[in-house]
Amino acid sequence: MVRSSYTLTKFVSIVTLGLIILFCRLPVLAQDKVQLSVDTTKPGPKIDRNIFGQFAEHLGYGVYEGIWVGPDSKIPNTRGIRNDVVAALKALKVPNVRWPGGCFADEYHWRKGIGTRIVTLNPNWGGVIEPNTFGTHEFMDFIDQVGSQAYLSINVGSGTPQEAAEWLEYLTAAQPTTLAKERAANGHPAPYKIPMLGIGNESWDCGGNMTPEYYLRQLTIYSRFVRNLNPAQQGKDQMLKIAVGPGGGEARWTEWTDTIMKAWEKRQWSWDMQGLSMHNYTVINWENKFVSVGFGEKEYSQILKETLKMEELVNKHSAIMDKYDPQKKIALIVDEWGSWYAPLPGSNPGFLVQQNSMRDAILAALNLNIFARHADRVRGANIAQMINVLQAMIMTDKEKMVLTPTYHVFKMYLPFQDATFMPVTFNAGTYTTGDISLPRVDAIAAKDSSGKLWLELTNVDPNKPVEIEASVAGLNAQSASGETLTAPKVDSVNTFDTPNTVTPKPVNVKIQNGKLTIKLDPKSVTVVAIS
Ligand code: AHR
Repeated sequence: MVRSSYTLTKFVSIVTLGLIILFCRLPVLAQDKVQLSVDTTKPGPKIDRNIFGQFAEHLGYGVYEGIWVGPDSKIPNTRGIRNDVVAALKALKVPNVRWPGGCFADEYHWRKGIGTRIVTLNPNWGGVIEPNTFGTHEFMDFIDQVGSQAYLSINVGSGTPQEAAEWLEYLTAAQPTTLAKERAANGHPAPYKIPMLGIGNESWDCGGNMTPEYYLRQLTIYSRFVRNLNPAQQGKDQMLKIAVGPGGGEARWTEWTDTIMKAWEKRQWSWDMQGLSMHNYTVINWENKFVSVGFGEKEYSQILKETLKMEELVNKHSAIMDKYDPQKKIALIVDEWGSWYAPLPGSNPGFLVQQNSMRDAILAALNLNIFARHADRVRGANIAQMINVLQAMIMTDKEKMVLTPTYHVFKMYLPFQDATFMPVTFNAGTYTTGDISLPRVDAIAAKDSSGKLWLELTNVDPNKPVEIEASVAGLNAQSASGETLTAPKVDSVNTFDTPNTVTPKPVNVKIQNGKLTIKLDPKSVTVVAIS
């Protein structure tokens, strides 16, 4: 009896203490709910679907094995192109594929990849045999199977304007020229469409180490003579000619952008361009790159801090472009971006094989959001690269295929393709670890052509959830649903044996009086549809 009254007293005091703690914590909990508002009455520009572009270079297992297995392979394929990869990419509605490089583009001679193939080497990437089995027709077949469009990079570094002009004539001429007849004899009588053309690649570096002035001379010549002859691509559907633009964060790139844009403003009728490219990889130390798996919170936060520099770069180069092109006629095309880590142990270092983790999913979302916020100028981007190389969507090993966390982000972002940007305001404070502080939450919103509103929310904090209370001006929100991508650890990955460690799951969204409440898991990417 004495013992049970003692137990009761102890129970009551524990409950009381618990209540006191809860009440003291309540204001903190309430404060922790982040108020976010989307304003659908002030629509912004269209988010060009081309910011979700991909990049397939002849590098490592990116093309050979990743795309091309050959018609005699046991791996199910259509005319040599693997069916599993095509199906996965089709589901991403890939808007364009940049090919054949990269650095490879400035050593690529298209004639070696049609008819009887010429076997060469790939000196940039491991010095391996380049069989040229995957050439012009195979690439065009691949993008056709995927439902995508061609973004060709022409050879300025070691080619000639004539070689590039003839490639375009071979691809696009509708009239029966000798080259058009050769194309027909090789199986494609109808002219191909080439909506995007890159004039060289990194001409300041692997593309020939040119000065801005020297490259400008090349640009004006190639722009003049490399013509798209397809009658369906004249006028407003013309091929976008994209000049080589700046690289990463160094000061010398300001001069590059300025030289090209200044010349464009004063251009004569005989040349033009519609885009300027920019490359920026997330790398902290090129000599001693971070690992792609087996890291912790420190490396997670360092890489995310580095990746956010994309915003500064876009701002810096957009400001220079605004000076010469206030009407924003020239698109900024970030046609190489993504994480670049140390090669996986045991892999050929020239093949740029790395794992793809939850950190990369967050990194992808942060970059896509930067592009969307600058949709008036950034009208194209190509993550590097599509399969088996750097921050890939897909990894393959013989007949096996796995979808990476980055793939899932691209899939979740599908509704943002060509949707109209809507401003979002919130203050979620910062996530701090060691000496690094990052915005705790990132978000974008957009309306698709059916009038549905889409909200993306990234919780950067790897340890704490965030509760969001969202209101939408100009829309009486009635229903909402969505999915979220998170993982047990910052370096969680999908492997061939455990392909579903990082996959999207439905998220619970409450809606009351037009306001949405969503709890974001730590280190998560969430996309919600609101109507
Ligand atoms: O994506 C790998 C390489 O990075 C590309 O070939 C080159 O353009 C860049 O330096």
